[in-house]
Formats: sequence, C-alpha cells, structure tokens
Amino acid sequence: MPVAHLDDLLARDVSGRRVLVRADLNVPLHEGAVSDDTRIRASLPTLRKLRDAGARVIVCSHLGRPAGEPRPEYSLRPVHAELRRLLGGEVAFCADCVGDAAQAAAKKLANGEVLLLENLRFHPGESANDPDFARALAELAEIYVNDAFGAAHRAHASTAGVPALIDERAAGSLMEAETDFLERVRVPERPLVVILGGAKVSDKLAVLEALAPHADQLLIGGAMAYTFMAAEGLPTGASLVESKRIEDARGVVRAAKSRGREVLRPTDHVVTASLEPDAEQRVVEEIPDGWLAVDIGPETAERYAGAVALARTCFWNGPMGIFEMPAFAKGTLRVARAMAESPGTTVVGGGDSLAAVNQAGVGEHISHLSTGGGASLEYVQGSALPGLLALER
Ligand code: 3PG
Repeated sequence: MPVAHLDDLLARDVSGRRVLVRADLNVPLHEGAVSDDTRIRASLPTLRKLRDAGARVIVCSHLGRPAGEPRPEYSLRPVHAELRRLLGGEVAFCADCVGDAAQAAAKKLANGEVLLLENLRFHPGESANDPDFARALAELAEIYVNDAFGAAHRAHASTAGVPALIDERAAGSLMEAETDFLERVRVPERPLVVILGGAKVSDKLAVLEALAPHADQLLIGGAMAYTFMAAEGLPTGASLVESKRIEDARGVVRAAKSRGREVLRPTDHVVTASLEPDAEQRVVEEIPDGWLAVDIGPETAERYAGAVALARTCFWNGPMGIFEMPAFAKGTLRVARAMAESPGTTVVGGGDSLAAVNQAGVGEHISHLSTGGGASLEYVQGSALPGLLALER
C-alpha cells in the first residue's frame, strides 16, 4: 500500500501547521555530550524542509532504554544543544513530551520554529504503545512525519500508535532514502554479495536464514564464523562457539546450497593466545588448541574483497573480528575499503560496521550508510516494519 512522502506533504501548504516529526536521535553520549552526531545530521533534511515551508515543527525521539521513567542520563538535552548548532537558529526544548507543558510549548511555536520534546521513553506508554499516551502525543499536532528509520522495527506509541490517529501522515526524507536503498538489497541487481559478521549466530539467525538463499554469496565473518566451522567439524580452538546453534548454521548452509547459492567462511585466521595486548599472535589455517581466533586472516580478507569487487549489490553488517583492538581490525578495515572500491550499490548498516567505515575514512564512497542497525536487518530479511506499515494509507 502506498506511503505518502514528505514532498507530497510539502506540495500542499503546511505553513502554520503543527507537524510532529518522529526522529531517531538515539545517539551515543560521552560525559554528557553527543559523541557521534550521525543520526542528528541524518535528520536535518526533513527538519529543514518543514521549517523552510513555514511549518511549526515538533520533534520527538527516544534515547537509550530508560525503562519508562525519567532518568537524567537519558535526557535529550545534550541532543538539543547539538541540534541547535547543526540546524542553525533557535530550537525550543520541553522537559516532557506530553501533558500541559508540551501542549503549551507546541502552541507557542511560530511558523518555521522547531521544538524538541524530552525522551519519549521516560513514559512507559511509549514502548507499550499505550492508547492514552499515543493520543496525548497525537494531540500536539495536525500532521505526522516519521523519519525514524532506526526505530521503524518497534511498534511503539510514537511509531505505530500516533500515525493511526493522524490522517495526514508521511515518511520523512531519511525514511525514504533508507527504504529506497535497502529495497535494492531486497530486490537486487545481481550478483548480490552479503557480508555478515558479529559475535553470535543467535543474534543474526533470522537474517542469515533469510539471506542465505537470497544472496549469490554470503560471506561470514566475526566470531559467528567459528560456529559455522564447528558445524563442519573443523577445529576452533578456544574461539567462541555457540554449540546450541551448530545445527542452525548447518541449516543456513543447506538453504543456500539448495538454491545454488554460496556461503563463504574464513579459511585463514588471526589467532592469539589471549586478549592481553602483548600476547603472541599468529596467522593460521587451522586454529590450534587453546588459541582464540580474533580476525579473518589476510587470504580470507582478499577473497572477500574479491567477491565484493565483482558484486553489483553489496550489503554489510557486522565486524570480521574484534576490530576495537587495532591488532585485530585488519580484516574488518579491508572489507570497509573493498565496499568503498566496489562499483556496485553498497549499503552498510550496524554501529560497528559504520564505525569501521569511518575508521577507514571511506564513508563518502559507500552508496548508503544506514542509520538503522536492527531496523535495516529486519528490512532486508523481508520483515514488515511496524513504523512503515503504520504510514500506509
Ligand atoms: C537503534 O539504536 O537501533 C534504534 O534507535 C532503536 O533503539 P532500540 O533498540 O532501543 O529500540
């Protein structure tokens, strides 16, 4: 079913009208300040367009998981400071997202002014999609715009409850860009190469199962590769293996093979005797007893880079090793550079992979950096996202 977009909304006159924008301003904080403003920057185009059209813009978001009560360490105040700086011009702040104070702040807005509301998750009604809480939020505005792609997989009051109450609703520019690019992974120009990494098969099982029969090549990295190796009966030393997921890993490989697709796993490994910085390291093809595999080896990194170079579409989520430790970051950084060099459409999602892309300094050469970790995985695995469903007409 069709979803209206911001430009459809702007084609009508929104001047003087109150617009509630659900943004995903869930950014990392360090010592009370925003330490990575990517999501704030990604929200600016929608806010600017609405502001320039003379709308009265009310922005709401969650930050962290404060479990339904006001907790100062999860306040959006540091985000407010950053939003003011990046958006330029005054941005008002209200210390509650619903109730009399929020109503008064929303009514005070003049045309083209912006108000940021305090963390939605300070109220238990947000995560519970409580109808009264949704109504209280919906009463703030006449128009609803959802630009929070990163929260679109949550059926919360601000993503699912409010749009059911406001007829004039649309997807924001970021939501549109995210779904356009991720749709190219769902319906790809082939060959499609998917690179999945991270520690656990259990965290990525749904996406592994969905993408193994879909991707022409599925490249596995990170500690979850060792569960795949255990499934083949190969030695894994002291590496992390999820014994309860070995059968699932076999199922993923079988599902790929039954469709003529390929699952690639590392064939050489960086291993270490311990995670102490001065511990001995080696590159091996067979992981010795007692040794811990912590990165894909150089041959595997080149093989994966070669597959990425031949792809028309590439999707990457999850690091190839413990890349936070520089000694074990080479495989992950090689994949980041390979993505940047690929002539195809390249999409990267997930905090660690984005951090690796930034560390490699290649962000501008990736077709799309998704602001949604969980949401991007759910989208490419074919799940219906509640935040998108609720926008349909
Ligand atoms: C994210 O960081 O992935 C989104 O902001 C969603 O946050 P959540 O997992 O706490 O719902």
